[in-house]
Amino acid sequence: MANRQKTVYCCTECGSETPNWAGKCPSCGAWNTLQEVKIDSRAAKRVGSGRILPAQRPRRISELDTSAEIRFPTGISEFDRVLGGGAVVGSLILVGGAPGIGKSTLLLQMCGLVGREKSILYVTGEESERQLKLRAVRLGVDGAEVYVLAETDLDHILACVDELRPDVMIIDSIQTVSDGETASAPGSISQVRECTMRIMRATKEKGLTVFVVGHINKEGSIAGPKVLEHMVDCVLYFEGERNTSFRILRAVKNRFGSTNEIGVFEMTETGLSCVENPSEMLLAGRPENSPGTCVACVVEGTRPILAEVQALITPTNYNGARRSNGIDYNRSAMLLAVIEKRGGLPVSNCDAYINVIGGLTLDEPAADLATALAIASSYLDRPLGADLAAIGEIGLSGEIRSVSMINHRLTEISRLGFRRCVIPSHVRDELRVPEGLELIPVRNIAEAVRAVLGKKSES
Ligand code: TYD
Ligand code: MG
Repeated sequence: MANRQKTVYCCTECGSETPNWAGKCPSCGAWNTLQEVKIDSRAAKRVGSGRILPAQRPRRISELDTSAEIRFPTGISEFDRVLGGGAVVGSLILVGGAPGIGKSTLLLQMCGLVGREKSILYVTGEESERQLKLRAVRLGVDGAEVYVLAETDLDHILACVDELRPDVMIIDSIQTVSDGETASAPGSISQVRECTMRIMRATKEKGLTVFVVGHINKEGSIAGPKVLEHMVDCVLYFEGERNTSFRILRAVKNRFGSTNEIGVFEMTETGLSCVENPSEMLLAGRPENSPGTCVACVVEGTRPILAEVQALITPTNYNGARRSNGIDYNRSAMLLAVIEKRGGLPVSNCDAYINVIGGLTLDEPAADLATALAIASSYLDRPLGADLAAIGEIGLSGEIRSVSMINHRLTEISRLGFRRCVIPSHVRDELRVPEGLELIPVRNIAEAVRAVLGKKSES
């Protein structure tokens, strides 16, 4: 009999496939990430029946009906925001994140709210029924229609779905379920792919909404989420430092909405609570009038968020150490170089530590100016004042460049009680200045340092 199994190699980093093994992924260049995956050619054939059903005929795009997209709210406002206004019926949503970040907690809390109207099957392969129950009690989850199944065999799980016919299913986690026909161990790429494919088929056939939990570690080296990203409808990542209570839910793919929105949560004694005003939380307890701190404003999705950037610059006799937390290392190295060369502050023979409060990562260049001012303030040992914020991108010649959505940012800055804001002198939008906010337009970094720290530097 012909061999029905085909072997491909799949990269755990980027999910791409190659027919041959190699030490380095030809697609993303990562080393030692290719894993063998067996594909059953019979399973591949099972997908198409060869018969064309009326709904499957090609149709004109103008004739397609969008009213078929029905959503239901999860009852958790920040979760709904990230999903684009609730979960779409019949979609498969992957919730990824490091272990212990709060994925199970979020989904269990959702069960409590959605379970009042819809039937939910919570499949747990990680915890026992007892553990789940104890956690549910602690979280105050009492949804009448929430069913729990502690099972890892996918055939059994899908049989239960046929019998129970739930509206929503949660699989916690994809790394624990296994499909009997695939020989490899649970959590391996073959298993994860095959199981997700079967769950996806069930999702579409039965109009079921499925949330799948996937663990990743910092290196993304556990088989799973990366490989699944292209298969599922929606990929959400739960991020945050484990030692802070701040959590961010981010959409990296959403077939039914924007991927710009983030959801902000706080982990409390009684589970996750939504943070409607992240800026207030991030700025709480800020030191007043101490050198080396400045407030930046970044836009996440449609929401401006204020965050405090701190810098500590100390002279050293050795090679200067560079540490950067929450701001890209290369970006902070660039800012230090620009401050030295264009701002006239010799920071290269200093140790430099940069930190963003709250475990937040600022990856928008709009935070450049605040970072640079925090560095300058620490170097000069002069405070910027608690009523000052700064927005602007810094170019290599020290120029301060315009950023998007400036009015949005100014409104938030003013709302949180700031009185002065350093901004680029050239802005693309027409400025609407909130009342009581003094703007300090600057052209370059030397001018900015001079304006707020009184340093006379050669520009
Ligand atoms: P969990 O949802 O189990 O994480 P994941 O499913 O992503 O692995 O969350 C685990 C952490 O959350 C755990 O370290 C304890 C903390 N936690 C709270 O602080 N409060 C709570 O009410 C709950 C349920 C968990
Ligand atoms: Mg869990």
